[in-house]
Amino acid sequence: MNTKVNIAGVEFKNPVTTASGTFGSGTEYSEFVDLSLLGAVTTKGVANVPWPGNPTPRIAETYGGMINAIGLQNPGIDVFVNRDIPFLKQYDTKIIVNVCGKTTEDYIDVVERLGDQPVDLLEINISCPNVKEGGIAFGQDPKAVEAITREVKRHAKQPIIMKLSPNVTDITVMAKAAEAGGADALSLINTLTGMKIDINRRSFALANKTGGMSGPAVKPVAVRMVYQVAQAVKLPIIGMGGIMTAEDALEFILAGATAVAVGTANFHNPYATKEVVEGIEAYMRKYGIEDIKELIGAVR
Ligand SMILES: Cc1cc2nc3c(=O)[nH]c(=O)nc-3n(C[C@H](O)[C@H](O)[C@H](O)COP(=O)(O)O)c2cc1C
Repeated sequence: MNTKVNIAGVEFKNPVTTASGTFGSGTEYSEFVDLSLLGAVTTKGVANVPWPGNPTPRIAETYGGMINAIGLQNPGIDVFVNRDIPFLKQYDTKIIVNVCGKTTEDYIDVVERLGDQPVDLLEINISCPNVKEGGIAFGQDPKAVEAITREVKRHAKQPIIMKLSPNVTDITVMAKAAEAGGADALSLINTLTGMKIDINRRSFALANKTGGMSGPAVKPVAVRMVYQVAQAVKLPIIGMGGIMTAEDALEFILAGATAVAVGTANFHNPYATKEVVEGIEAYMRKYGIEDIKELIGAVR
């Protein structure tokens, strides 16, 4: 039975990775899951300098998930390179570093810094506000998506995965813009903008007012978008959004994802990634699937 998949020339032993920001760099989760069992570990977003994140409260529970406005708090690339990469290198898994920035130059800084690091793939989070364009996220404007993809690609040593925002009218327009800019792969979906109001305090549940919605409640939206993007572009896709179980992951693979990422589920069940790997294998045995590639995009 073959569970290996290929994302932009990088071979994963199985299609399962972690969704950025929900697994740190694996340090805490390594007490629950042997990281060598995973196809890849995707790290929390890292910027060129430390970001303090948003004021609290910055997470709240919602039906079937949560909203968060962490604000991409991170220690910056210097700490990350010295602390997190050596930790991850102890394991037999691929390393995907998620990159965030407020300007094109910020992204380029991080990507250049990672050029000589033992990192397999770069995932570019374009849901960040573009400060030079009045704060609209890079990922909400096709021209900005194409431009940031092209710039990052020009400076990156590793293949780049552009992580798409679902907060758009037509996700295929953004996918095509990333493809035109030279992306090697796509990942989707990032969180959906939401809001929760605390009726007792008569205020917003999050200090930031809005937050990104994630968890099983968003899964049907994510599966639909992965399907649409798989039909629209030739690039390999890492699918995510509400994956709790192997059955959820298989929906994404059948819709056209080559790999899948487990996110919010980690907060609820720290063994979720391992259970998804095992469950995909059990499904393949049950239905006599020799190669996982038979399943990728099998539902049209
Ligand atoms: C607490 C939290 C932090 C996140 N941080 C990041 C991040 O740093 N970079 C990024 O690209 N996505 C980030 N995400 C989005 C997830 O990687 C993922 O795209 C989204 O949550 C949907 O998957 P899920 O429903 O399985 O969590 C974050 C999500 C959560 C819940």
